[in-house]
Amino acid sequence: MAWEYSEKTKQLFMDAVHGKPGTHLGEVDNPDGIGEHGSMACGDAMRFTFRVNRHPEDASKDVITEAKYLTFGCTSAIAASEALCTLIEQSGYTPIEALQIQNSDIVEFLQGLPEQKIHCSVMGAEALEAAVFDWAHKRGVDLEKLGVDIHSDEKEEGRIVCNCFSLSEPYIKRKIQELGLKTIPEISNAIKAGGGCGSCHHAPGGLQDILNEVWGYSGPAPLPSLKTIFPAPETEEQTLSPYQLSKKIEQTMDQYIRPMLQRDGGDVEIVDIKDDTVYCRLQGACSGCAGAAMTLKMMVESTLKEQVSDNLRVIQV
Ligand code: FES
Repeated sequence: MAWEYSEKTKQLFMDAVHGKPGTHLGEVDNPDGIGEHGSMACGDAMRFTFRVNRHPEDASKDVITEAKYLTFGCTSAIAASEALCTLIEQSGYTPIEALQIQNSDIVEFLQGLPEQKIHCSVMGAEALEAAVFDWAHKRGVDLEKLGVDIHSDEKEEGRIVCNCFSLSEPYIKRKIQELGLKTIPEISNAIKAGGGCGSCHHAPGGLQDILNEVWGYSGPAPLPSLKTIFPAPETEEQTLSPYQLSKKIEQTMDQYIRPMLQRDGGDVEIVDIKDDTVYCRLQGACSGCAGAAMTLKMMVESTLKEQVSDNLRVIQV
């Protein structure tokens, strides 16, 4: 499916991949805070770094002056990460104040996100939390004493409910409550849990049991649905002729994918397109990279699926 994004989302993505001054794709040198969320294996991963202006007497008053991200994901993951860094830098927040930023703020900044892409905004908020925890540890700031709960040990403490995405019961419960998630599809859209093999949906202690426990068997209190909170633009399926498909693939490669690879000294060329299979060859720094297959699969293929057609697959030659 080619997703319909807001103009703001598309612009942020384009600016980021073309390295427009003022954008935030990259990594801060010698960062004061580093946080990660997601994993390559799960298809989305974000590394968030920031630098602070250190307060001479009270570290809790450090102010974030620079924030950057590395996101291994799609258009919305990159745009959401841009939104997060922009919101932080524009506000002149301390790391603790930055925790006020919710995924709904990111969605609002992006002028809406397709419902199935809400997890991209959640990922940023989680990576930010991890980076703030790292900063606090390095700077000797006692977050607990300041009344800040950043759930740093949630993953270690709870049993894993969704093995496909390594998500624990406490984490899933917290996000169900924070985001008012009422159904399994809503959980999958927001945090990906249940979006893989599906075996965690109705297993004992699985997602449905957790929903029942959080909201009670009679169902949750009437909360606005995600559709209301995060209005998604209408999507429109298009049938492309083989010629149009090839042109759109080439266009997407030139506009979105190659600029991103070229920034790291790499590149990619299309060798052939047969039906829904795109045969590609990585070039430059990418060609000798151990993660080349992963790059093709995750970055090139996911971008083509998003921008052109969900049926496309990429083969490295
Ligand atoms: S275990 Fe949750 S989707 Fe596979």
